Amino acid sequence: MKTKYLHFNERDLDTAGRLIRKGELVAFPTETVYGLGANALDLQAVSKTYAAKGRPSDNPLIVHIYDKSQIYDIAEQISDDARKVIDDVMPAPITIVLPKRAVISDTITAGLPTVAIRMPLSEEARQFLRAAGVPVTAPSANISGRPSPTNWQRVKEDMDGKISAVMCGEPCRVGIESTVLDLSDEPRILRPGAVSAEYLSRLLGKQVYVLNDPTSKVNSPGIRYRHYAPKVPMVLEQNDDVEKLCRYFDEKTAEGYHPVLWVHEPLRFGGRNAVEMGLDDGDVANKMFETMRKLETQYDFIIASFCRRSPCYDGPAGQGVEDRLIRACGHTFI
Ligand code: TXA
Ligand code: MG
Repeated sequence: MKTKYLHFNERDLDTAGRLIRKGELVAFPTETVYGLGANALDLQAVSKTYAAKGRPSDNPLIVHIYDKSQIYDIAEQISDDARKVIDDVMPAPITIVLPKRAVISDTITAGLPTVAIRMPLSEEARQFLRAAGVPVTAPSANISGRPSPTNWQRVKEDMDGKISAVMCGEPCRVGIESTVLDLSDEPRILRPGAVSAEYLSRLLGKQVYVLNDPTSKVNSPGIRYRHYAPKVPMVLEQNDDVEKLCRYFDEKTAEGYHPVLWVHEPLRFGGRNAVEMGLDDGDVANKMFETMRKLETQYDFIIASFCRRSPCYDGPAGQGVEDRLIRACGHTFI
């Protein structure tokens, strides 16, 4: 298949909308990561998503909308908490999970009685969704297990020849996937993202917890899988222990690796290969997946350090960043 590379002008948006309605896959930018869009009302289209990504079909998909009124067509039993999030937070880098209506098939929800819904903040994303005119399922537009793409060039790397079109928009501003907030029962976060637990707790006037056990089935099957992984081995250090990091680097070098330290302050590592992770939570999130994809081509072992006492952890995206790093290293800590 020859993949079309489309732009945000009237003619290309029209083409993209027609492709979606015809049941084709079109990748598009959002403020979090690029998504791989399919018509949520067309099961054959949705099924193509799993094949293109090489993704297990027991991992449910998020349905993307451009107008809040669409929520009421696909979900029901909207609680007061849900209404508050819909009215006061969306559009934002957040996904809400609600009891589904029959129009949403089990293929999308992997058999769950709930549906995940997201209205992106990105203007480009909403232009694309409006052009489609139907609810659009969209996982991140990467091959399953790889770091999510935050610019269209990375989508091309993973998806060229496998999908009908890519909307070439701006690089993503947030850089990590949306916060997934389950509102089908007591509110709880199934995946941390840039909309923080602290903010949601304040908004709803109650404690909103982050479910953080990747081995549990909970209600978010997707978080069971090893995710976001670079192609080379990666480990994570969590105390900003410079001495330990240096020792580990030297051991790996002695074993014949060409390792890199991915750290808060690269200048402290005595000339060893070290790359800065970012200055604050937003900066780290914004560069994270792109840096993983760069480092894996230049080095053969990534030694990451992310510490709860660093300024990178304070701030709304801190928890989401830590979550992605833990999954990227496959829970291998040093
Ligand atoms: O930022 C994002 O959310 C991006 C962009 C493209 O919008 N999309 C994205 O989709 O990250 P994906 O497929 O990579 O992640 C979807 C997450 C998974 O963790 C999945 O398990 C969860 O949402 N999910 C989907 N439907 C669910 C449901 N009914 N109940 C619980 N979790 C659900
Ligand atoms: Mg994903």
